[in-house]
Amino acid sequence: MGAYYLDWLNLFFRWFHVIAGVAWIGASFYFVWLDMSLQKPPEWKAKKGISGDLWAVHGGGFYEIAKYKLEPEEMPKTLHWFKWEAYTTWLTGMAMLSIVYYANATAYLVDPSKIAFTNIQAIAVSLAFLFGSYLIYELIVRSHIGKNKLVFSVTIFILIVIATWGSYQLFSDRASFIHVGAILGTIMAGNVFFGIMPAQRALVDCVRKGEKPGPDVAALALMARNRSVMNNYFTLPLIFIMISNHYPMMYSHAQGWLVLVFVGIITATARHFFNEKHLGRNKPGYLIVPAIATLALIFWMRPAPIEAAPAPVVSATTTTDSATAGVASGDEAMMAVVHERCTTCHAAQPTQAGFAAPPAGIILQTPEDMKIHKAKIVTAVQSGYMPLGNITKLTDEERQQLVAYTSGL
Ligand code: HEC
Repeated sequence: MGAYYLDWLNLFFRWFHVIAGVAWIGASFYFVWLDMSLQKPPEWKAKKGISGDLWAVHGGGFYEIAKYKLEPEEMPKTLHWFKWEAYTTWLTGMAMLSIVYYANATAYLVDPSKIAFTNIQAIAVSLAFLFGSYLIYELIVRSHIGKNKLVFSVTIFILIVIATWGSYQLFSDRASFIHVGAILGTIMAGNVFFGIMPAQRALVDCVRKGEKPGPDVAALALMARNRSVMNNYFTLPLIFIMISNHYPMMYSHAQGWLVLVFVGIITATARHFFNEKHLGRNKPGYLIVPAIATLALIFWMRPAPIEAAPAPVVSATTTTDSATAGVASGDEAMMAVVHERCTTCHAAQPTQAGFAAPPAGIILQTPEDMKIHKAKIVTAVQSGYMPLGNITKLTDEERQQLVAYTSGL
């Protein structure tokens, strides 16, 4: 029953998380586009201190947008800040991390073939890893490294590669991807909370008091600018990670951490192309890097050809089921393995604790079921992704036989 209610919480928070994320990233895309599309205003607007001018039509109305070089002549009564989108996305994301990965740590967070953490240990390590990574980022962005754009970007990129590799040493494959996403999301929300908001507050304070912004405000603004740029480049990799749990071929690859590094390079360089395009520098040449990297990734990740099917034999553990002991038929012998190792979860009514419904809607009872999901099963079993966390202790021999049997269906 607990698993049933947890599924509802999962559904609610995932939905909420996506809505908040769309609002946040949507606003962020819009403002990046806006900033880069502003044009020189006519003289009469420039005199008022307007530095950027833009007209748009949307939803049946004309919009006139003006960006002030410094401050408006008079502070408006209502000023929109755009911060709750970021905070809500982060909070609901942390809720998702708890609902999916902490509440069912045995299945989703821990991979005993990497480190056999207890659930509590795994959750503690996960939190330390996440907030530790964020702390390192925060120290760097505030140090002198944070002031040089190039050095700053390269340092952060290298540290994220290390974190990606580290995540793969600690957690299950799927959790590893999500932890990198959680780090990126935490950095982005942290950038808003600890950098961008304080800089905006300082600026607004100055304007309200009628003071000219001093060097301390300018320093805050510069740091906020660097943080914004970082957020801009993180958006595409982060969205990729958000949807990645639908693609086990990505995260359960034997070198999953390297796959993610590749994806990071592809998505961040693609983002760079769009940034340049918005600035009026439409250089398709910039797409060469992501295009070549994508092709290289597709080629490198292709699965190894499957070895010729060895005669399926009933392994020692499955012979306990006397009905199938010694049966020569491939179907029956293999289905006995499937029933023992897979159907505890992949049944209309799973018997595995923590599962209320067949995961991914996949039921594995009969050879026909196996045939229907053949392609996915081969990938999932061959890559070691299934059984999840190898809870049901599929042996290497059974794994090989199952891949050969299923691909022969
Ligand atoms: C502990 C429960 C559990 C066991 C045991 C288990 N699975 Fe799964 N399986 C899951 C969950 C949960 C998902 C959905 C995972 C996701 O969304 O990434 C899944 C997804 C799958 C998928 C879909 C993957 C995709 O590409 O979307 C396949 C295929 C699969 N399992 C096959 C198997 C096979 C074959 C076995 C036995 C060797 C097995 N599973 C054992 C829990 C389990």
